[in-house]
Amino acid sequence: MTKPNVFVTRVLPEAGLNLLKEHCQIEVWPGELPAPRPELLARVKDAQGIVSLLTDRIDAEVMDAAPGLKVICNVAAGYDNIDLAAAKQRGIWVTNLPGVLTETTADLGFALLMAAARRLPEGRDYAKNGHWKTWGMTTLLGQDIHGATLGIAGMGRIGAAIARRGKGFNMRVIYHNRNRNEAAERELGAEYVSKEELLKQSDFLMLIMAYSPAVRHFIDANALAMMKPTSTLINMARGGAVDTDALTQAMREKKIFAAALDVTDPEPLPAAHPLYQLDNVLIVPHLGSASVVTREKMSVMAAQNCIAGVMGQRPENAIG
Ligand code: DGY
Repeated sequence: MTKPNVFVTRVLPEAGLNLLKEHCQIEVWPGELPAPRPELLARVKDAQGIVSLLTDRIDAEVMDAAPGLKVICNVAAGYDNIDLAAAKQRGIWVTNLPGVLTETTADLGFALLMAAARRLPEGRDYAKNGHWKTWGMTTLLGQDIHGATLGIAGMGRIGAAIARRGKGFNMRVIYHNRNRNEAAERELGAEYVSKEELLKQSDFLMLIMAYSPAVRHFIDANALAMMKPTSTLINMARGGAVDTDALTQAMREKKIFAAALDVTDPEPLPAAHPLYQLDNVLIVPHLGSASVVTREKMSVMAAQNCIAGVMGQRPENAIG
């Protein structure tokens, strides 16, 4: 029996690729950068399955370039890079990876919160660049984390995992979400508040909502103006949740204390962007799920979804 064809849009950890190879004929795009659009369209031609990353725009054009396509497996929790409606219309399953990266992503969110609050990148540069002449009473003063109010926009799995970390630091946790999350209220003591109260009360505002056009520029100039001057914004959602120009302006004018971004708009943010020049802004290159163990588990889970899909079985993580 011939094996089904699968196009994998970037090199994955070996565990996932090996599993795929057992059941499928795979082609892996070898480049460090995503396949250019014409390459993507050409390479999916005979594919029954696509294993994609969040950097690949998988829309109707890609689906129509692969007439035998049964399943698209995103190696991410988010799937805003895939046109779900187009997939549904064509009877193609789309899968994501819920759960597997929750704790790892929450770890990074909290790491960014702490690093920005206590000015770790500035401290590192200060020591490394020879400015450290003595212990200073007012050197690089940051904000307290313990006892502060942690505001979370998006109380899903990762939001709840971040709230648990906050509780460990004796923080008050408030949140805003499309729907109330009663389990988080009961188990974590998280308080539901309006968006306006979230902006006004948070000392640390963590964005971790699922991204859709409805939350584009959730943080804009008005929202930034409502935040406390001592507050820190952390974006773990998608770059589009924050208006980059408004943030640049606000951080230049020190309207809030700090911003820490795992995601940017555009992504990647060009090296010449003025946000990189600001000491009160910490930017990392979308590292939420980037631990050795989690990335390996993600590759296996995506492979399992793909194998099921190309065999004609509904994959465990099919969306919708
Ligand atoms: C995802 O998987 O959607 C996250 O952005 C991981 O960092």
